[in-house]
Amino acid sequence: MEFAEIVKSRYATKKFDGRKIPESKINELLEMVRFAPSAINLQPWKIKLVTDQKVKEQLKPAANNQEQVTSCSHLLVFCADPDYDSLIRRLGTLLKKSGAPEEMQKMIVGMATKFTQTMSPEQKLAWSQAQTYLALGNALNGAKSLGFDSCPMGGFDPKEFSRILKIPPPLVPTMLCPVGYAADKPMQKVRFAKEDIVF
Ligand SMILES: Cc1cc2nc3c(=O)[nH]c(=O)nc-3n(C[C@H](O)[C@H](O)[C@H](O)COP(=O)(O)O)c2cc1C
Repeated sequence: MEFAEIVKSRYATKKFDGRKIPESKINELLEMVRFAPSAINLQPWKIKLVTDQKVKEQLKPAANNQEQVTSCSHLLVFCADPDYDSLIRRLGTLLKKSGAPEEMQKMIVGMATKFTQTMSPEQKLAWSQAQTYLALGNALNGAKSLGFDSCPMGGFDPKEFSRILKIPPPLVPTMLCPVGYAADKPMQKVRFAKEDIVF
């Protein structure tokens, strides 16, 4: 499928048919997520993968009883990671391992440190969450490209999700992305015209 077709045919699926997506496809999807862009390449996200049906049932009330949570094949819980000390350390190690020139390692680590050291905890979380949405975007279009469906979901209680899934702080569940095979039909697309969004 052409990318334009993927983007236009993807839709927020309200109900999946319960069939399981092969793990190899899920791994392909996660690979697409892994390659999402991020500021200074800090990749401030983590994804909790939920497949256990009992756990999905437990989570459903904390997601306004939305059926996608239980009817999906896999539930991806996109969490923002605001721990920049750790992210910068990890990126520094990765740059070294990947053979980046020392000057470049120093420059990137220095820039990331300078940029984040004056941020408040709230600013760090907001920054991480903004980027987590980019990773989510890869998952949404990626799912369609791999032949299955998805739904971006912000209608859930992050605290309840953290409790049930034992998500360690400071990670913050930010968006849900249930994936599976749709059991509904897309609604007509309603979008502002180009003239309304470009000025
Ligand atoms: C931040 C965000 C939160 C959303 N939350 C939900 C949700 O909780 N449940 C749901 O069914 N759809 C949710 N959606 C999907 C939107 O309603 C949907 O993308 C929009 O209506 C456009 O429809 P389409 O994606 O089918 O083209 C959310 C989308 C975004 C971007």
